[in-house]
Amino acid sequence: MTGHDTTASTISWAYYFLYHHPEELSRLRTELDAVFGPNTSPSDIAKQITADPKLHTKLDFTLAVIKESLRMEPPAAPARQPPENTHYTFKTTSGTTHYVPPKSMVYTSAWMLHRNKDVWGDDADEFKPDRFMPGRKQPWGYLAFSKRPRDCIGSTLAYLEAKLILALTARMFDFEPTITYHRVLKGTQKPCFDAPMKVKLSNYQG
Ligand code: HEM
Repeated sequence: MTGHDTTASTISWAYYFLYHHPEELSRLRTELDAVFGPNTSPSDIAKQITADPKLHTKLDFTLAVIKESLRMEPPAAPARQPPENTHYTFKTTSGTTHYVPPKSMVYTSAWMLHRNKDVWGDDADEFKPDRFMPGRKQPWGYLAFSKRPRDCIGSTLAYLEAKLILALTARMFDFEPTITYHRVLKGTQKPCFDAPMKVKLSNYQG
């Protein structure tokens, strides 16, 4: 389950943000036209990927959309419990040390870190996939897949799955969220009411 609903939420949020940022959707579709050719059907795309399994590495902007969706709405975050008879301490930026009672689990909010303007800049609340384009330096504060040594073992697969789903669907369908989503915590963090969307065949022509 850990890998399925997190990846599904990521794709749902990506389509949510793309709907609200048509200029970014248009860039995504242009990239797909450039990599796979205009008006390519899902089966054409599948054939191309089978013939050249590294083709997906050319989808820089598609990947940036996925990373930015994960920054805006991270489905998961690190939770840690200290070993028996030990406890955590943490230091605030002003230098105060806090002691966490033994056996307490500490949950680090990726969402709060990802929206922190000191880390991501004044536009931290805005959907801007350009932050993740090659050559741009990202701050350390990106916790979508946690950090080593206990980071997500499925991140490469998750990126690949999300890229392929967007590649196969983004030009063929128009996705329209039917409500304004907010996030809910149900095991992982996901869009409310299972992300209802109206989906119709797109008139997009590459
Ligand atoms: C967008 C999709 C995904 C997100 C956002 C995500 C996020 C995360 C995060 C934040 C953690 C660390 C949790 C913690 O430290 O407490 C984690 C751990 C883990 N994830 Fe993922 N994950 C995703 C997809 C996947 C997939 C596809 C798989 C498997 C195929 C997977 C398998 C795991 C496993 C096994 C762990 C535990 C690693 C450990 O504790 O050593 N995840 N994931």
